[in-house]
This record gives sequence, structure tokens and C-alpha cells, in this order.
Amino acid sequence: MKGIVFTEFLEMVEEEFGLEVVDSIIMKSKLSSEGVYTSVGTYDFFEMQQLIVNLSKETGIEVNDLIYAYGRYFFSVLLRHHPNIFSLYSDPISMLASIENHIHVEVRKIYPGAELPTFKIIKKDDNYLEMMYYSERSMFMFARALMEKTFEHYDSSYNIDLELIKEDGSQVKFSINRQPYAFNQ
Ligand code: HEM
Repeated sequence: MKGIVFTEFLEMVEEEFGLEVVDSIIMKSKLSSEGVYTSVGTYDFFEMQQLIVNLSKETGIEVNDLIYAYGRYFFSVLLRHHPNIFSLYSDPISMLASIENHIHVEVRKIYPGAELPTFKIIKKDDNYLEMMYYSERSMFMFARALMEKTFEHYDSSYNIDLELIKEDGSQVKFSINRQPYAFNQ
């Protein structure tokens, strides 16, 4: 997992819960990096898992709710670092349908060693996208958060349903609806 995912995560934890919580979760996790991350480095995903589990214990917030909150936070990081990618798309459905074949393809060039999910489109039209998420990291709530923020970025309202195809969250079906007229009603 890329260093930027760690540095921004610790930034969010500091903003939301304070520096003591950052220090405490680093202390409680067994980190071969010792909690020292550079944004261009690559680190073991197991370190992120431990940081999140310890943050969950410390705050009483469920792991998946923390991953979701971090996804919403991470969207603004992506927007700040890669505005050019967003400017290529004018609507959320076409942007989300392009993650696999365009966006994450570019990401692999910018961030060598990135561990990315696989998305497979099942159905698509102008206002509907059904796609499968596959990842052994089971970060489907991170995906959900990024999808929601994508709609908000393009000022569209939406409804996103997900169905765990595998109980461990490594295969998840997303049904994404755009509701184009909701703002006018
Ligand atoms: C992970 C970049 C858009 C879904 C990542 C990572 C980067 C990245 C750097 C971390 C890789 C690693 O740590 O090894 C970008 C950029 C985007 C973008 C630059 C747009 C400009 C999106 C969108 C989604 C998405 C719109 C919506 C579903 C994910 C997920 C992961 C991820 C779910 C977590 C890894 C996993 O589940 O296995 N992305 N991303 N990304 N991205 Fe994207």
C-alpha cells in the first residue's frame, strides 16, 4: 500500500481524534516501518489493518465505518493531487465506469507498486452502473465513500446499493443509480 494512504490516514486521525490517539495506535500496532511513512514509499497493507483495528478499539467506532470515513477524506486528497484526471470527466457514471480501464491504469504509472482493486462492469447506461468490486483488501466501504463523493463532486444525487457476494467483503456487487432530477423537485 502506498505511503500517501498512510500519511493522509494519520493526518485524518490527528484532525479528528488528536495527536495522542495517533501516537497510541502507532504504539499498539506492530509496524516494521515503526510508523514512519513517506508519501512515495510502499508499505505492507497489514500495517494499515493494524492501525485501523487499534483506532477502532480506541474510539469504539466499527472498522468499516472508519474505512468509510477515510474514503470520504481521501477523495479530497485525490482531487487536490490529481485535478487533471477529474477534469476529463463531466459526469459521475462515466467517471466511475472508467476507474478500471483508465483511472487506475494511470495510477499504476504515477504510483508504482500500488495495490488496486479490480472493477468489472456488469451493466451500464446513462443513469445506472452495476459493477463488481474484487480485492483481497476488502476495502469496499472505501469504494462506496469514493463513489458517493464522486457524485457529490458532480452535483448529482444518487442511490448506491451494495451486496456482499463473499462474506469477507473481497467480492462486492455495487448497484449505482443517478437520480438526475432530484435537485429540481
Ligand atoms: C486505492 C488513486 C479514483 C477506488 C487507490 C490508491 C490510489 C488510488 C493511489 C492506493 C493504492 C495503494 O495504496 O497501493 C486514485 C486516483 C483516483 C482514484 C488518483 C482519481 C483521480 C477512485 C475512485 C474509486 C476508487 C473514483 C471509486 C470506487 C479505489 C479503492 C481503493 C483505491 C476501493 C482501495 C484498494 C482496494 O480496495 O484494494 N486509488 N483512485 N478510486 N481506489 Fe482509487
